[in-house]
Amino acid sequence: MTDIQAKIDDLTDRISQAEKAYYVDSMPIMSDTDFDAIFNQLIELEMKYPQFKHSLSPTTRIGSDLDSKSIEKEHTIPVLSLDKCYSIEELNNWVHKNTIQFPGQIDLVIEPKIDGAGVVLYYNNGELSHALTRGNGFLGNDITDNIKTIKSVPLTIDYKGELAIRGEVYIEKEDFKNFNTNEKDSEYANPRNLASGSVRRLKSSETRGVPLKLFLYEGYIKEELFKSHIDNLMFLKKNGFRINSNCGFFSDSNNVQSVNFENSITGTLSHYGDFIKHFAEIRNSLPYEIDGLVIKINNLAIREEMGFTRHHPRWAIAFKFDPLLAETVVKDITVQIGRGGRVTPVAILEPVLLSGSTISRATLHNQDYINTLGLNCGDRVAISKRGDVIPAVEKVIEKIGSIDPFKMPETCPECHSALVSDGAHLFCENIECPKRMLGTMQFFVSRSQMDIESLGDKTLEFLFANGMVRTIPDIYIFDYNTLNGMDGFGDKKVSNIIDAVTNSKKKSFITVLSSLGLKDIGEKTAELLIKQYHTIDAIIEAAAKKDSTIFSGIFGIGEGIALSVIKHFTNKQVIEMINTLKNCGLQFQSEIVINNEVQFLAGTKWVVTGSFEHFKPRDIASDKIKLFGGEIVGAVSTKTNFLLCGSDAGSKLDKAKSLGIRIIEEEEFISIISRQML
Ligand code: IVH
Repeated sequence: MTDIQAKIDDLTDRISQAEKAYYVDSMPIMSDTDFDAIFNQLIELEMKYPQFKHSLSPTTRIGSDLDSKSIEKEHTIPVLSLDKCYSIEELNNWVHKNTIQFPGQIDLVIEPKIDGAGVVLYYNNGELSHALTRGNGFLGNDITDNIKTIKSVPLTIDYKGELAIRGEVYIEKEDFKNFNTNEKDSEYANPRNLASGSVRRLKSSETRGVPLKLFLYEGYIKEELFKSHIDNLMFLKKNGFRINSNCGFFSDSNNVQSVNFENSITGTLSHYGDFIKHFAEIRNSLPYEIDGLVIKINNLAIREEMGFTRHHPRWAIAFKFDPLLAETVVKDITVQIGRGGRVTPVAILEPVLLSGSTISRATLHNQDYINTLGLNCGDRVAISKRGDVIPAVEKVIEKIGSIDPFKMPETCPECHSALVSDGAHLFCENIECPKRMLGTMQFFVSRSQMDIESLGDKTLEFLFANGMVRTIPDIYIFDYNTLNGMDGFGDKKVSNIIDAVTNSKKKSFITVLSSLGLKDIGEKTAELLIKQYHTIDAIIEAAAKKDSTIFSGIFGIGEGIALSVIKHFTNKQVIEMINTLKNCGLQFQSEIVINNEVQFLAGTKWVVTGSFEHFKPRDIASDKIKLFGGEIVGAVSTKTNFLLCGSDAGSKLDKAKSLGIRIIEEEEFISIISRQML
C-alpha cells in the first residue's frame, strides 16, 4: 500500500468516526476546526489521487448537481404498513388477545411513531449499497445520494452480511421553523412535507441544505443473530446507526433490566398504558413531531408465528394520537399573490385559540388540497397547528357551504389576466400585476437581496397604495423628497431611504438578477448565467434564439430552468424593466468585464467579519475581494488565508487568532486594494 493510500484511509476513518461521534452519539471527539482541516485535507488528496478515493468516502456526502433519474428498484424485504388504533381500549384489546394466545410470553417495545418519510437502507459487504423510498412497498425510488447527505448515516459498517433497515427521515420542529423562514423561495406546510419532498429531490445538492435527520427502527438480516427486537436495536446501535432511545419496554419476565438505552423507560406489562398517557402529555415538548406510538411485540419467534396480512404485520400496531385541533368556521376563501406570481388560496377563519395563539387564517396550498378536503366557504372545519407553527385546515366537520369544493379563479383577481398552472400551483404571469408587483418589490428590497431595509413592508405598502412606487424601477425613479413632512416621514427617514436606494446600486449583477423575482432565477441560476454570459445583453441575445439546449448545456441548469430563462428574457415587459433599471445605474454586467481588474487575490480564501466604516453593507467588501479574484468562505478554518476584520468582530476573530491566520483591518485592506498588491 502506498503512503498516499494509507493517508487517505486514515483520514477517511478519522472523519467517519468524528461524524458518528457528532451526529449519532452527540458526543463530539474533535473541534470543528480540526474536523474542517482533516476533511479539506481528504478532499485535496482525493482530487490529486482519485485512484485511491473510496467509493463511499465521507466527501461524497456533499451531493451532486446532476439530476439523478430516480430509478425504481425492488425492495428485498416486505415494506408493510401498520395496523392502527385510536383509543387505549382498542389497544388493550389487541394486547389482551395476544397475551391469551401467547400466555406469559408477550413483551412489548413502544417507540415514537415519527411523522416523516419512510425509507429503507440496504447494506452489503459492510457498505451502503443503496437506499429506497417506501414507494408502494414492493418498488421504491432510489434516493441513495440524498440519504448520503444525512451525516448520521454510516457509509460503511462492521457487519458484512446483507442488511436492510427501515427508518424514518424527519426534520426537527426548530430546524423546520428556521428553514421555512430563511428559504424565501419555499413555503412548506409542515416538517413531514419538507422531509418527504427533500428526500425525493432529483439533485442531491439541493437535499444537502435541508436539515434532515434519520432514525432507524427495524433491521433485517438473513442470519438468525437476534432473538428479540431489543437485540435488533442493539445490533443497529452497535453498527453505528442512530436509533430512537426514547422508547419503552414492558415485560413480566425479568428481562426488564437488560434494556437500557439512554432515555428508555421500563416496567411490567401492566404499565404500558401509563407510558402511553405520559407520551401523549410530553408529545409537544419533543423536538420532532410524532403522530402516535408504535407498539411492537419483542420476541421474534412469536412475531414469526403471528405473521402478516397483506397490509401489515400482526405483531405491531400504531396507537394514533388525536391531532391537536380546534373547531372554527371558514368565513371566506381568498387568493394571495406572492412573488413570482404564485397564487395561493387562503382560508379566512372565525378567529379561534389553538395551543397559545389566535388563528384567523390558514393557507390552503392549492386546488388539490381544497379538493381533498372538499372545502368551501361557510364550512365548519377542524384546524391544527402543524409543526407547531403553521395553521392548517385538517378536515371539514360540518358541510354548511356549497356541496362543491371552492374553485380557484381562472383569472387573476387583481389584474384579470388568465392564470397559468405549473404543477399543482397556479401563477399570474403578468409581471405588471399590481398585487404580484408588491410581493415582488418586498422581496427585491429585502435584506438578503438589494438590502433597502428602510423601505420596509409598511412603507412600501403605503407608497404602493398611493401610486408612488408601483414597479421595481419606480423604487429608483420616485422622488422621495416629496414625502418630506408627510405623516410618518421625517427628514431622517426620507434621507435613510434615499441613502439605502443609492447604496443598492452598488449591488452585484448576481444580486440584481436574482432580486427581480423571476421564477426559477434565484441566486444560483443567476450566478451560472452570469459566469457564462457576463452581461445582460448577452443573456437576452442567447434567449432570443429560443433554443433551450443553449442554457441546459450549462452545468447546473436543467431543462425546466432553461425554458424559464427563455421565457423571462424574451418577455418584452421584463426587457423593458431591465433597460429602465440599467438607465438608473444598476449593475447588469459582471464586474470582471467592466473593470478588467488584475486578479491579484486569485487563490486566496477570505473570511469577512464585523462591521466597517467604508464598506456598508459588508457585502461591498466581499464583492471587492471577489472582483480581484479572491474567494469568500463562511467559516474560519486552517484553509483560510485572511480574515478581513471590522469592528465588533466576535468568535471568528478569536478563531482566526488561535489559528494564526493573518488579520487585516479596514484601513490596511483599503490600501491593499488601492495598491492592488498584497
Ligand atoms: S414499524 C413492519 N416503527 O409509520 C414494520 N414504523 O404507518 C412497520 N413509522 O411506514 C413499521 N416510526 O414509515 C415502525 N418506530 C416506528 C416508526 C414507524 C414511524 C412509520 C413508517 C411506517 C408507518 C406506518
